[in-house]
Amino acid sequence: MTTVLSNPAITDDERRRRLYAGQVMVYSASPASLALVEHARRMIEDAFGSINPQTAQHEMPVEDFAGLLAELKPKFIHHPESKRRLQELLSEFVCDRDKTYFDVPRMRTSTANDYLSSGISYAFHAHRDTWYSAPFCQLNWWIPIYPVVPENVMAFHPRYWSNPVRNGSRRYNYYEWNKTSRQSAAEHIKTDTRDQPKPEEPIELEPQVRVVPEVGGVMLFSGNQLHSTVPNNSGRTRFSIDFRTVNVDDVVNRHEAPNVDSECTGTSLRDFLRTRDFERIAEDVALTYEGELPTQLSERYDSCTVPFDRFQ
Ligand SMILES: [Fe+2]
Repeated sequence: MTTVLSNPAITDDERRRRLYAGQVMVYSASPASLALVEHARRMIEDAFGSINPQTAQHEMPVEDFAGLLAELKPKFIHHPESKRRLQELLSEFVCDRDKTYFDVPRMRTSTANDYLSSGISYAFHAHRDTWYSAPFCQLNWWIPIYPVVPENVMAFHPRYWSNPVRNGSRRYNYYEWNKTSRQSAAEHIKTDTRDQPKPEEPIELEPQVRVVPEVGGVMLFSGNQLHSTVPNNSGRTRFSIDFRTVNVDDVVNRHEAPNVDSECTGTSLRDFLRTRDFERIAEDVALTYEGELPTQLSERYDSCTVPFDRFQ
């Protein structure tokens, strides 16, 4: 059973506990979420000029569209206002500013009708973020920038919450991925040959759950949920923001979702910034998540580069 809770009146501790148990939550748009959306819209509309961003794909050559996104998306990630808006949003959600760490917000797009389905606007196959070295206590936040419909959102595949999927995570090491694959996302306009953890058996996509939040509405779910981008048949490009959080007490105490099938190595924990002051998570905490990572890899990994294409 998958339960979707709307605007639950619960504490952050209780919210995390329920999310680790597979529940999904959706919150109405709020002043802070709308401020984040407004900031994103300004950047998008600056980039597209007089063209409507949601229908620009019907007017622009695919290479130009991909080039525009390749510039816009990292700009949004690195913009100092993006972090500040996130800080306000997490405070509004009464997340402890000293214990809650976030990974920088990404802008995601899903184009309609297979216009652009790889690289910089990757239509994501069914996956769990925990196949990609996310900690099992990672929570995902997802916010539409323009109105969305069931035909251009994302889907959860709830039967796999407790059932394993044969998958490629055993070949995935977070540090290797960062070194070799990340910079090239924008080059993969029409095909994407990067070896990402995928299901290695047929997935039963039904039953599935699609949540359709209002603009600025916030959907929250465990990074361990099997989820996918739905085939976009809406005729419009979907623009959304997502980011991830962890609570450091849960990181340390392993209060988290259950691992049913992930075998990747390395950890994305060093990407997370403390809400209060944007300090990175302590190295001694991150080190406890190294698993069976070969030592030489750990030593080669120095400072964290901010990714822009992970989980397009
Ligand atoms: Fe994901």
